[in-house]
Amino acid sequence: MRVLIVGSGGREHALAWKIKQSPRVRALFCAPGNAGIARIAQCIPIAADDLEQLVAFARDQHIDLTVVGPEAPLAAGIVDRFRAEGLAIFGPVKAAAQLEASKVFAKQLMAKYRIPTAESQTFTTAAAACAYIREKGVPIVIKADGLAAGKGVVVATTVAEAEDAVQRMLVNQEFGAAGCQIVIEEYLRGEEVTLLAFTDGTTIIPMVSAQDHKAAYDHDAGPNTGGMGAYSPVPLLTPELQQQIEAEILQPTIDGLRQEGIVYQGVLYVGLMITASGPKVLEYNVRFGDPECQVILPRLQSDLIPIIEAINERKLAEITINWHDHHTACVVMASGGYPGPYTTGKLITGLDQVAALPDVYVFHAGTTVEGQNLVTAGGRVLTVTAWGETRQDALDKAYKAVQIIHFDGAHYRTDIGRRGVRPS
Ligand code: AMP
Ligand code: GLY
Repeated sequence: MRVLIVGSGGREHALAWKIKQSPRVRALFCAPGNAGIARIAQCIPIAADDLEQLVAFARDQHIDLTVVGPEAPLAAGIVDRFRAEGLAIFGPVKAAAQLEASKVFAKQLMAKYRIPTAESQTFTTAAAACAYIREKGVPIVIKADGLAAGKGVVVATTVAEAEDAVQRMLVNQEFGAAGCQIVIEEYLRGEEVTLLAFTDGTTIIPMVSAQDHKAAYDHDAGPNTGGMGAYSPVPLLTPELQQQIEAEILQPTIDGLRQEGIVYQGVLYVGLMITASGPKVLEYNVRFGDPECQVILPRLQSDLIPIIEAINERKLAEITINWHDHHTACVVMASGGYPGPYTTGKLITGLDQVAALPDVYVFHAGTTVEGQNLVTAGGRVLTVTAWGETRQDALDKAYKAVQIIHFDGAHYRTDIGRRGVRPS
């Protein structure tokens, strides 16, 4: 089978790495990919959101299956577009992708189907939004409706900060159309966990648990990023809690969508706050998390291709999915300055040495080749993943590798998985 992966980050490198191991796969392509992916797949210079070129490539190259990594093409309707051409593709259709692409849509669905989440209201004018903020008080959370690369959420601890967020989204339109509507919601206290599941629109099979670290610096300080590291499993997510999340959140979400005429096929990601009154949804994503994917897929024992096929044929109930018992951890090495402005083109060294270490794999995110050199090409540059008998073992191996890798200005968190759970 000939497989195309869409995307260019660490998540897509992990997808390529896993899919490459399938005995079913004869040829693997990635659009646009990165320098790490290029070592295991043929990279095609087509942007992840260039739907027409991707369709043309899949058709002309007789691609049997396309797997989509990032949210933007899903929100733009890549799955609908491929299906209209009779091309097999893995991911939710545009209507289902609204769960991530529109926080207003997600909030309405949760309200209608009584899925626990923070109390909220939607606003399109700054005056009404600010009046609501003054009525509710702080802390309070302001969210841009649309996709904003993880930067559209402001947890405000002062009224001034909250009003400033409203001003930037609704008046200055810093997020463009994504910020034309905003959701203002109650601040939830508790521990944050993430649960990802495979679903065919009826059946749900949760994956092993994973915990991201979104803040840029140690002790959860600094601005939010796409994610600076992760580990799996997460002790906080006990089997009982997982069952509760499945019954109260995952299943009602998928069933609610189906009642709205939307069959969700793909990966569903829920970000949750475990509050004193139970788990509540912070956000939905309609794809694998990055870097959660880099700690989840190395634990997947089963071949990913038959799972994808079962989802696409709506026969997920007929298969079993097996996982390895080992622990995994990953540390993201980012460009100095990320998530703010940063420079690229820095020489990356040490990867050959790290390749010789046991139980470590470096997934590339923002890398490219310049002449003979591997250089940085993005905010998040590498995800150094390791596995071991315990979380500490996995972390020790990952950090040992991180210390060997060098590029100018590299920054990474030194406390990934330190507490096993993140403080609220
Ligand atoms: P989101 O992209 O919606 O997951 O928000 C990004 C981060 O903001 C989350 O990981 C939480 O740490 C925080 N956050 C979002 N919504 C809330 C909320 N209602 N209460 C407290 N923290 C929140
Ligand atoms: N790591 C969070 C995300 O992928 O959205």
